[in-house]
Amino acid sequence: MPGCAQLSVDLLVEEARAAFKAGIRSLILFGIPDKKDAEGTSAWDPDGPVCTAFKALKDALPDLVLVADVCMCEYTDHGHCGPLERDARGHLAVANDRTLPLLARAAVAYARAGADIVAPSDMMDGRVAAIRKGLDEHGFADTAVLSYAVKYASGFYGPFREAADSAPREGPADRKAYQMDPANLREARREALLDVQEGADMLMVKPALAYLDVIAEVKRLSNLPLCAYNVSGEYSMLKAAAQQGWIDERRVCLEILTGIKRAGADLILTYSAVDAARWLQDVA
Ligand code: PBG
Ligand code: ZN
Repeated sequence: MPGCAQLSVDLLVEEARAAFKAGIRSLILFGIPDKKDAEGTSAWDPDGPVCTAFKALKDALPDLVLVADVCMCEYTDHGHCGPLERDARGHLAVANDRTLPLLARAAVAYARAGADIVAPSDMMDGRVAAIRKGLDEHGFADTAVLSYAVKYASGFYGPFREAADSAPREGPADRKAYQMDPANLREARREALLDVQEGADMLMVKPALAYLDVIAEVKRLSNLPLCAYNVSGEYSMLKAAAQQGWIDERRVCLEILTGIKRAGADLILTYSAVDAARWLQDVA
């Protein structure tokens, strides 16, 4: 992925310091574990990269809001967002309900390590409620849940999956059994409202650019803070076109972020964050 790298904890703290200095007040972490297994058990390893990083970041930058992406696909050896099981027809499928306690366990581990917000990105049914309950039972009632409520099965995640080594390798070839059909807007409303009922504190729509109407619709439905994820493929297209000299990166990036904001996003999760923060300060 252009402009992105897997970082060790020491280098991450330096990157976070630079981002904070540029005006960024929140960051989200994705983990690359040493070992993967069928259940993704290293997701909640207190000595794993994500928990270690949260502890280091809390010490170094106590005012930085720390977000944990909660999903099993970086931790499972098959690359799916939950464990696989055989369905009644003998096909390998992702086990929705068996994923829920694993997500809750990971969320509690991240909260314990210092995460202020946990962000489940798997799209399993019922996970917001399971995570909320797990956090409350372990004394983390004040840890917020930012739900990837409306996440489409999208080709725009390609660069991320390569960077995070998390593409499906076994079982179903894609994530269409749990992520949404890009053509479906009605399901977006159902998914958003379900997550509100289950106790989400913030909602997310993902990807952003091909889904600006979805952002506007979810904003209309709920007054929870709404986040939009300007994903890896969107960022990579911007970078590639800029590298070719076809577009002006600064101008187009700020235009994209403005469009996402105009559609209704209160928060934008973007790989352009540090660049944009610097450019916006320049303009001001
Ligand atoms: C984990 C996860 C993914 C992204 C964020 N969390 C990948 C996926 O669903 O396959 C994608 C982020 C991006 O493309 O920038 N499930
Ligand atoms: Zn996943």
